[in-house]
Amino acid sequence: MQVGVVGAGAMGSGIAQVAAQAGHRVVLFDTKQEALEAAETKLAKIMARLVEKGKLNETDAQGIQGRIAYANDMKAFADCGMVIEAIVENIEIKKFVFSSLEEICNEKTILATNTSSLSVAAIASACKNPERVIGIHFFNPAPLMPLVEIIPAIQTGPATTLLARELINSWKKVTVLAKDTPGFIVNRVARPFYGEALRIYEEGIADFATIDWALTELGGFRMGPFTLMDFIGNDINYTVTETVFAAFYFDGRYKPSFTQKRHAEAGWLGRKSGRGYYDYSTDNNRPEPTKDQAVGDVILWRILVLLINEAADTLFLNIASRDDIDLAMTKGVNYPKGLLKWADEKGIQNCVDALDLLHSTYLEERYRCSPLLRKMVAENTTFY
Ligand SMILES: NC(=O)c1ccc[n+]([C@@H]2O[C@H](COP(=O)([O-])OP(=O)(O)OC[C@H]3O[C@@H](n4cnc5c(N)ncnc54)[C@H](O)[C@@H]3O)[C@@H](O)[C@H]2O)c1
Repeated sequence: MQVGVVGAGAMGSGIAQVAAQAGHRVVLFDTKQEALEAAETKLAKIMARLVEKGKLNETDAQGIQGRIAYANDMKAFADCGMVIEAIVENIEIKKFVFSSLEEICNEKTILATNTSSLSVAAIASACKNPERVIGIHFFNPAPLMPLVEIIPAIQTGPATTLLARELINSWKKVTVLAKDTPGFIVNRVARPFYGEALRIYEEGIADFATIDWALTELGGFRMGPFTLMDFIGNDINYTVTETVFAAFYFDGRYKPSFTQKRHAEAGWLGRKSGRGYYDYSTDNNRPEPTKDQAVGDVILWRILVLLINEAADTLFLNIASRDDIDLAMTKGVNYPKGLLKWADEKGIQNCVDALDLLHSTYLEERYRCSPLLRKMVAENTTFY
């Protein structure tokens, strides 16, 4: 089956590589010739590196590159069985692209969007046959991150969901099914990892390095929140938070942070700008954390219990299954353990008590305990 990819940027070029590595002929289209050229050069470099490291042989690398055709006309999608869109995050432009795709492709072609924050239903509404439209959300960089969220819109036909999931599974990705709600699974459940870390800093409980130390050394997370935000970029991470906050009708639970907003406004974006929460202009940029176990434990537990709460609410509202929520966080953002499994280990009663204490101290929505956790305590049940 031929696969089409719209947009040759960071995500589109990675998705094209994944599909070509899985053996498909791929058509990669972009309105900008420079983007196509940059994607082709980037892929050649990646392939050369993989050959050098002995992870691919020369013939396979050539084969992968040979299977991708770079197109400057959407008509090249005519014979594709699936087209994945990865262009700018703008609803009007995406709708225009989807209605154009419907004119070019045959009626069986699956039309997928890689949107991170827009409604799949809104994108699908641009098509006469919205049943074939679905969200297929890869993580950056697409060739390395195993997780893909599959998001059927309310209009999506069951056959589309089944076929799309089977196809992405055959690309050796781990797929999870999520409802078409803001942030899907990962971008919703992970909000407190950033938001609560920023809040703890703002309250003066600890500095960036100490909070990062607590999460990595005591919590087993691969990266601390400030290191990770610097890696993602404070502009991007802030925008995701703001979008999720607005999409949830300004539920105080997802309120963005002034600290991050000011960092983004100052151009302290993180690694890419040379400075974020840390200074990347020198090698020795890390202030020493204060390795106080008692403070570290408080920091870790406060962030962890809010993550658990968000994961529990995601299950409570049937956005995804228990197993998919845990899989999404371990495979999509490398959490050391599934959050619902972690909740069982910590004790559901302890989670509820910690949330209620925070809520009664601050009287803020961000600490509102999920009704599911409360119900589980009443019924004396666990997630697993
Ligand atoms: N970057 C991430 O971490 C990430 C992760 C998951 C999902 N996403 C989503 O993937 C999509 C793409 O993000 P990105 O980071 O790759 O963006 P990007 O800016 O790197 O690339 C977008 C590309 O789309 C092209 N483009 C714009 N309008 C077009 C059109 N009408 N037709 C064809 N090409 C067009 C641009 O020229 C550009 O090359 C967005 O919807 C984003 O939300 C991004």
